[in-house]
Amino acid sequence: MNMMNLRGSLDVAKRAVDRCLMLAKLSEEEHQTTRTFLTPPMHEAHRLVRGWMEDAGMTVTVDAIGNLRGLLQGARSNAPLLLMGSHLDTVPGAGAFDGVLGVMLGLSLVETLDDQTRPEFGIEIIAFSEEEGVRFGVPFLGSKALTGLLDPTILQRLDARGITVTQAIRDFGLDPGDLKDAEFRSKALGYIEFHIEQGPVLDSLNLPVGVVEAIAGQTRLEVRFEGKTNHAGTTPMHLRRDALPAASEWIIEVEREATATPGLVATVGWIAAKPGAANVIPGEVRASLDVRHQDDSIRSSSVRRILDCARAIAERRRLQFKWEVRQEQAAVSCDSALTETMARSVETAGYPVHRMVSGAGHDAMVMASRMPVAMLFVRSPAGISHHSDESVRIEDVASSVDVGRQFLRHLE
Ligand code: HGY
Ligand code: MN
Ligand code: MN
Repeated sequence: MNMMNLRGSLDVAKRAVDRCLMLAKLSEEEHQTTRTFLTPPMHEAHRLVRGWMEDAGMTVTVDAIGNLRGLLQGARSNAPLLLMGSHLDTVPGAGAFDGVLGVMLGLSLVETLDDQTRPEFGIEIIAFSEEEGVRFGVPFLGSKALTGLLDPTILQRLDARGITVTQAIRDFGLDPGDLKDAEFRSKALGYIEFHIEQGPVLDSLNLPVGVVEAIAGQTRLEVRFEGKTNHAGTTPMHLRRDALPAASEWIIEVEREATATPGLVATVGWIAAKPGAANVIPGEVRASLDVRHQDDSIRSSSVRRILDCARAIAERRRLQFKWEVRQEQAAVSCDSALTETMARSVETAGYPVHRMVSGAGHDAMVMASRMPVAMLFVRSPAGISHHSDESVRIEDVASSVDVGRQFLRHLE
């Protein structure tokens, strides 16, 4: 890599990181970064990103699910499009780079182009409105609408304030009647997503970037243990139908199942006891369950065992057990040809090629239903993510810019 290029990529990387830090300040909460699906701070995020896209000569639109989309026509008219992007929404108390860095890197690559280097193909940068599934408990609403896979029943789901997805779309100034138009209908070369690894592998190998070959499948459920609310002072222990110890016993079994199954991860991210008073026996406990594995059959059999265990605990404690699926996403292999182009780009950019599986879910796994996908991971120092300590190293971001520039050349 000659010094000029490296310096250029370092400047590009610095600007991309600065933009991520600016966007991280746009939050629903005072002291941490939380920007969920179509909430007010997303308007400001759109205003900033739209400005950068328009300055880069892109035509910018917002589709009916709230994806912000910048289009740069190719040097050859009606040439197929290369899609690049990631998500603009965050988890509560997020870092500054999960999703956002992928949008900024796609935009940065467009900004490095000039009339000489502009490819024949067009480029569409997509800032997805909803990948994390925080506000309505269902992830990938943005990429599902873009691929025509959005289940219409989801539009009636309620958020914590009783607002439906349909109303949230209207409140944001969009028309749910236009959701069909959000579907991508042009010719695509494929979709590539730059994303922080969010795990410790690249850092442990001291590598700046990694080539993603597959994305683990995930099952997300909401479970409910139903017993009997009663007085905490007058109800003897043997007469209780307390939902909270039942859920607690089950959560330990969830951890035991995941620890005993190589490559499986299972998480109870939130739990809610009702009525939630110190002197009342909880009659109802709801909780989330997130199970992932790169092999779908292992994931499914573990989910079955975890649910059987819940039913057995509920029966023994004279409780009811219910559950609902929030998300069932099969593992996805990245497109081999596009991934080889990505690996070759890493090589010609001068970096070691490390191939890996993503434990985190990404919009790429939904986009794969419609077009070839490839992903490049950027090192997550200390493997921290979904936390305000999430970080990136400018040099690693510059490495991913180098790889991206090579990728555009190789794709020509
Ligand atoms: O949860 C995930 O895998 C991703 O961060 N949405
Ligand atoms: Mn995330
Ligand atoms: Mn992400």
